[in-house]
Amino acid sequence: MNLAICPGSFDPVTAGHLDVIRRAAGIFDHVVIAVGANLRKQPRLPAAERARLVQKVTSHLENVSVEVMDGLLVDFARERGARVIVKGLRAVSDFESEFEQAQLNRTLFPELETVFIMSAAEHSFLSSSAVREIAAFGGDLRGLVPDEILDVVREVYSRDRTASSGEEAGS
Ligand code: PNS
Repeated sequence: MNLAICPGSFDPVTAGHLDVIRRAAGIFDHVVIAVGANLRKQPRLPAAERARLVQKVTSHLENVSVEVMDGLLVDFARERGARVIVKGLRAVSDFESEFEQAQLNRTLFPELETVFIMSAAEHSFLSSSAVREIAAFGGDLRGLVPDEILDVVREVYSRDRTASSGEEAGS
């Protein structure tokens, strides 16, 4: 079976992620979405919660499954017998970090190939951090995150601002 792993922080999953997942599902027999930790970032939601949101927006894709990834991506891929990592690539600004990760992963697991799917033009500006910021300030998230999770993303990520104003008030 031609299995691919699509890893990410998904904090939260965006319309851009979903587009890349859908296109990957059209290429590979099965796609496992690995919801993991990027230790350079501090996720706002636990991995299980982020995975639940990804599950909700991908439930219509029969050959896609979602798992939490606790450790290294290379170990996750090895354990599942996968040889392909799929990632979305938006702009030149993504390239350096993606290049570094792909090279490191290939050093750790030489048979593992990373392939990139170029994001659709309409999503090339879209990121989870932008979604978090718009949610925190009560902005309109329609079209930026899948409709099924609009309310929960609004609710959960608007707490970011509440939390930071709380800190300011207390200091
Ligand atoms: O959405 P992101 O933040 O680009 O996803 C990054 C992620 C989670 C794919 C990456 O940090 C990762 O693979 N984490 C698992 C730990 C690991 O293998 N780190 C080494 C990567 S070089």
